[in-house]
Amino acid sequence: MSIDSSISPANFLGFLSLLAYILTLLPSSLRIGFPVFKKAKFIANLLKYRRQLGILAFLVALVHVVLIVIKRNVDLFDLQTYSISVEGTASLIIFALLAFTSNDWSVKKLKKNWRRLHQLTYTAIFFLFWHIQEKMSGHWNLLTPVELICMTAIIALFLKRRWIEYQKQYYQQAKK
Ligand code: HEM
Repeated sequence: MSIDSSISPANFLGFLSLLAYILTLLPSSLRIGFPVFKKAKFIANLLKYRRQLGILAFLVALVHVVLIVIKRNVDLFDLQTYSISVEGTASLIIFALLAFTSNDWSVKKLKKNWRRLHQLTYTAIFFLFWHIQEKMSGHWNLLTPVELICMTAIIALFLKRRWIEYQKQYYQQAKK
């Protein structure tokens, strides 16, 4: 398979949104998966700007979609547009829900449900992996392998984190 060296602005924005999203996932996944990172300064900085990064990921993804819509000459207000990419639309809805509730007011109002809602961020990992490999199938550019490698790494990190959390819970229950 040949790799295209030209990258359209829409694709570049898809890449940037993905990058910002991955940065929001890194702190907690790295701290639990690899405790040596617990006190790392870059983790503390990523945690500090996590909300802003999430909002940025949503806004950039929105422009990615608008540019795709313009390129394909389809109507943004026609539901058919979103069937171009069901998994992309699902990811965008998740990004929107997270962006709109990334504030202290929502944390207070939604209480326990806020945590539940924000767990959706992990569902988006799988939707986005599907999105990239499906939409770019047969016409990869220089960004596509980088995106797929990053997504595979973040999925592995997420699974490691879930395994550690499951073990902790199992031993705590066994102690009771
Ligand atoms: C959170 C939302 C989304 C993110 C983060 C995202 C990200 C991406 C990324 C990273 C790529 C691959 C770029 C490359 O390797 O060059 C891509 C491709 C694509 N996306 Fe999205 N996307 C999102 C939502 C959507 C939605 C809602 C649609 C359509 C309604 C869409 C349509 C497409 C299409 C058609 C392509 C392939 C472009 C091509 O053929 O070159 N995306 N997206």
